[in-house]
Amino acid sequence: MSNLKKLLFSFMVMFYFTCFLITPSYSLDCYAQEWTVYIYDGIQDSVIDVHVKSKDDDLGHHNITFDLGYRFAFCESIFGNTLFTGDFYHGSQFVHFNVFDDVVSSIIGGPQVENTNVYWLLKQDGYYLSKEFKAYHDPVWKFMGHWQ
Ligand SMILES: *[C@@H]1O[C@H](CO)[C@@H](O)[C@H](O)[C@H]1NC(C)=O
Repeated sequence: MSNLKKLLFSFMVMFYFTCFLITPSYSLDCYAQEWTVYIYDGIQDSVIDVHVKSKDDDLGHHNITFDLGYRFAFCESIFGNTLFTGDFYHGSQFVHFNVFDDVVSSIIGGPQVENTNVYWLLKQDGYYLSKEFKAYHDPVWKFMGHWQ
């Protein structure tokens, strides 16, 4: 009995290290779905300060412009309650919204589908969401709210 346990234990250790070794180092190694969120500035000649945070991670401040967006990737929680909030500063304008939560995930299509990219676009009148990247004037961008 105890020999069998030892054998099982060594097998589990071997299995664990084998899995560990074959994991490519550039992968996020998600247990659940991996998502990528893209944030674009659709206002010509502007700078928008983007500040994304989750409960555990502060991704810092990033300036985006018409030509230069920002993106980040993360592993969705296996409990499906992943939340990333964003603070956006454009001159005297400010807006705060959830850049990723269950609502955003369901609009995009959810982890059941192949598509796991989220696209946000900030424009003069507010912020827009899309599950595919399109030109800034394309009607595929769904209006989600005004600057505050
Ligand atoms: C963003 O740009 C402003 C000037 O427009 C600058 O003061 C600030 O340091 C920049 N922030 C970052 C994170 O680069």
